[in-house]
Amino acid sequence: MPPLLERLGVELPVVQAGMGGGISRHELAAAVSEAGGLGTIAVTGAAAIRRELAAARALTGRPLAVNVLLPFARQDWFEAAAGADVVVTFWGRPRRRTAGTWLHQCGSVAEALRAHAAGADGVVVQGVEAGGHVRGTVPALRLLEEVRAALPRGYPLLLAGGIAGPGEVRAALEAGACAVVAGTRFLLSEESRAHALYKERLLAANETLLTDLFGAAWPAPHRVVPNAATQHWLGGVRPLYPSGGTKDERRTLLRAPAANRALNHLLAPGARYTPPALQQRMIRAQRPGGRILTPAGPTDDGPATLVEAGPLYAGETVSRIDAVRPAAELVHHLAG
Ligand SMILES: Cc1cc2nc3c(=O)[nH]c(=O)nc-3n(C[C@H](O)[C@H](O)[C@H](O)COP(=O)(O)O)c2cc1C
Repeated sequence: MPPLLERLGVELPVVQAGMGGGISRHELAAAVSEAGGLGTIAVTGAAAIRRELAAARALTGRPLAVNVLLPFARQDWFEAAAGADVVVTFWGRPRRRTAGTWLHQCGSVAEALRAHAAGADGVVVQGVEAGGHVRGTVPALRLLEEVRAALPRGYPLLLAGGIAGPGEVRAALEAGACAVVAGTRFLLSEESRAHALYKERLLAANETLLTDLFGAAWPAPHRVVPNAATQHWLGGVRPLYPSGGTKDERRTLLRAPAANRALNHLLAPGARYTPPALQQRMIRAQRPGGRILTPAGPTDDGPATLVEAGPLYAGETVSRIDAVRPAAELVHHLAG
């Protein structure tokens, strides 16, 4: 067993990605950890982190991770996240904010080098095929090879992007990863808090697109399945590849119209300080044709309107996933 996993007490090299906005809460994280993988909670705010972690601890005695998105995080989030066995950070300047085990998700060799220099205990190498916000610009296996060559031998590397079955896990481990990180596959689990209609859309989907459309307050590329909002704002920009398109096309960033992008950038500096009640109002008001499109995905306790007006985050693996399964079953399936 790789030393990092052994030290943590994680039996299987399968990590469930933190899926923000509350898609991965205690039910999913605990089920993954209890099955021998490493489950990750991703919620907004210190109180929610504490609450979800306590609820997950009540379900499992195994290690748990908390994901923190750096563009939004405040100091008290890190204090709450310190109660987890692992803190995973994403999107921003890597900096040690916890005394415990810290991993940073990276999309380039330069970023991995920065995380290593900042004292990260390992890095998650994210490929361009990943779902959700996408830092990577090349396929995950290629980036893994490049990062492995640039960092000291034995430094823990985890691979994110393109993981939906045991063959992909084996390939990642053979290429030098100590574990894989899977998001989309676990989004399509019984325990994930994605809206039922969101799960249905993903099961039916065979295409994704990379865009910056849902960038209000967070102007960053993300991979989604098409819906009414992408059709409204991007349908005229480029065809949405209804008949497949090429891999290169699917990996080209489809940019939102300039006015949307300008608005997104204007809103970004205040993102960390927007009161939760105002955020909720913006999310509830979101419509496919509105220019303010927030990054909030559809959850089972949020408005169903987000299925057409919000981001249906998913990785390229979505075309190979055809059923919602219990998370524990997925952990064992992936681990082979
Ligand atoms: C619905 C969804 C939400 C995500 N939210 C986050 C997040 O909050 N923080 C983070 O570090 N990564 C997030 N990601 C990216 C994952 O960490 C990971 O890179 C990605 O899921 C890997 O690709 P896959 O979805 O094809 O497995 C998200 C991914 C998805 C699918």
